Amino acid sequence: MCGIVGHIGSNNSVEKVLEGLKRLEYRGYDSAGVCFKDQSGELSLYKKTGKLVNLTNLLKNIDYGSSSSSVGHTRWATHGAVNDINSHPHLYKNLAIVHNGIIENADELKKDLVAKGFKFKSETDTEVFLGLLSFELEQEKDLLKATSSAFKKIKGSSAFVIQSKDSDGIITVKNGAPLVCGVNEILGEAMVSSDPYALMGFVEKIFFPDDDVICFLKKGEINFYDLDGTPSNRYLAKDLETNFEATTKGQFEHYMLKEIYEQPALIRNLVDNYFKDIDLNLEKPKRLHIVGCGTAFYAGMVVGQIWEKRLKIPVSMELASEFRYKDPLLLPGDLAIFISQSGETADTLAAQKLCKDRGIKTFSIVNVEGSSLFRAVDQNFLIHAGQEIGVASTKAFTQQVLTGRIICEAFADNKDFSSLKQKFSLLSHRIDELLNKAELFKDIASKIYNFGGFFFTGRGIYYPVALEGALKLKEIAYVHAEGYAAGELKHGPIALIDERMVNIAIVGPELFEKTLSNIQEVKARKGVIIGIGPEVSELRNICDLFIPLTFEGLEELSPLYVNVANQLLSYHIAKHKGTDIDRPRNLAKSVTVE
Ligand code: AGP
Repeated sequence: MCGIVGHIGSNNSVEKVLEGLKRLEYRGYDSAGVCFKDQSGELSLYKKTGKLVNLTNLLKNIDYGSSSSSVGHTRWATHGAVNDINSHPHLYKNLAIVHNGIIENADELKKDLVAKGFKFKSETDTEVFLGLLSFELEQEKDLLKATSSAFKKIKGSSAFVIQSKDSDGIITVKNGAPLVCGVNEILGEAMVSSDPYALMGFVEKIFFPDDDVICFLKKGEINFYDLDGTPSNRYLAKDLETNFEATTKGQFEHYMLKEIYEQPALIRNLVDNYFKDIDLNLEKPKRLHIVGCGTAFYAGMVVGQIWEKRLKIPVSMELASEFRYKDPLLLPGDLAIFISQSGETADTLAAQKLCKDRGIKTFSIVNVEGSSLFRAVDQNFLIHAGQEIGVASTKAFTQQVLTGRIICEAFADNKDFSSLKQKFSLLSHRIDELLNKAELFKDIASKIYNFGGFFFTGRGIYYPVALEGALKLKEIAYVHAEGYAAGELKHGPIALIDERMVNIAIVGPELFEKTLSNIQEVKARKGVIIGIGPEVSELRNICDLFIPLTFEGLEELSPLYVNVANQLLSYHIAKHKGTDIDRPRNLAKSVTVE
């Protein structure tokens, strides 16, 4: 949701924090700010509404080069309007803090603080923690103890980074929100962030603290404490690979486009590297629950249909935000699989905790190793999608489905990995062919981008990608789009069809005739038909514009092939709209709050 970065050690601390914020801007870009210890040891605060560039412009004539301690933040607003005063960091007396998450009991705590004479400057819940910390520090006279006392009083998922004028370190603590620390012993530096990506190249070793572990970062060292003040070993330590390839767009105009074009190579990588190390001795569950949000949920719909057909077990596909509150029916022998790119989505984490608390085995299909979901489940299946920077998820969807397909085969009685590998390779080849047709997608997008609304329709295995296609277009082009089961349109939504509406009609070889008749129903009401389907004249002839696909041999993987067509169409429509494709308005890459 928000991006937080802290650094202590060498000079040019602010430069490193700003670089970290630049890499985290995908997490939120309503405002950005930095606080650093200046040459006199005072805390200097600069923050600005809008994208990071506004902050760097504000800092243009500021001498921060000699600072060796700083904290920074990019905001996705939850509490309080998007303005300078609500931006982070927040500063009070000798304390500065940045925050990612939500303090659910902020209102009641705020009343106590106001009664004690604390003067709030902002509308944020973050300032409530700053007030608590300040009062606790007056009592405890020790920053670690004060942090523990204040942190115990707040509810909700939060991560904080605290800087004090009077301390030679920076302090972090979290519960539920992502946080990772890193150390460079050679250079005598330590850093903290919401995402390892911000630490890449600055530190060699990283640490994922558990909830309620306080990290005290000093020059070149990190000490961990439980809330009772005793040293803690509740953290996961690992080396940080430095893969800067992910941090550049290369020859692409947007990260999203680059990530769309990465898909064939990632699929081949799954074939070459993944099949061999998957645990093949998996006991088939009696029932499967697949849980996720947004694109991850739609990937789960594709996976769930494959599982039900291949393993003949009941599968329920669940929206995490619904599942966590519906008191789900969970039975012995059930398995719950949580799909998440970031591994930090609050609803998905809560749903997983519910299952774990009820004794249900939980697996993840996740992209970020070391994420909260990664550390919470019984068994992880990494999707190996690499860093996904574009807020609109593309390559992660493909890898989530394919990883789910591999796991499915590992449960099957008569496992057939060889034919599955061939199918994966064929999919990679077909997507390559599609990616070479960019001009077709540009041409279609140029003709339809200004229409009044878009219906993505599909039947059976294509219904989930109709939903995902509509989500993609909404996210990056800010146009109204709906995903619908093709057979459902006539039960009401067809009232919306007229010459202003576009139907992106997905037609697979399965249920071909049925889907064709749905297109006729739309055409009869003057809807504009963009067909995505096999090269057959009876389909091409009723479409206004047509994207020919070759489905042969793909079978249950066909939806992934169609989905790339939807990704390209949405991308080129958004380009005509002139939106910020990599950082769409109102969105964040990882929704770490409810
Ligand atoms: C995808 O394009 C969206 N940005 C969003 O729906 C996302 O898939 C959802 O928030 C789940 O995120 P996760 O996969 O990191 O859990």
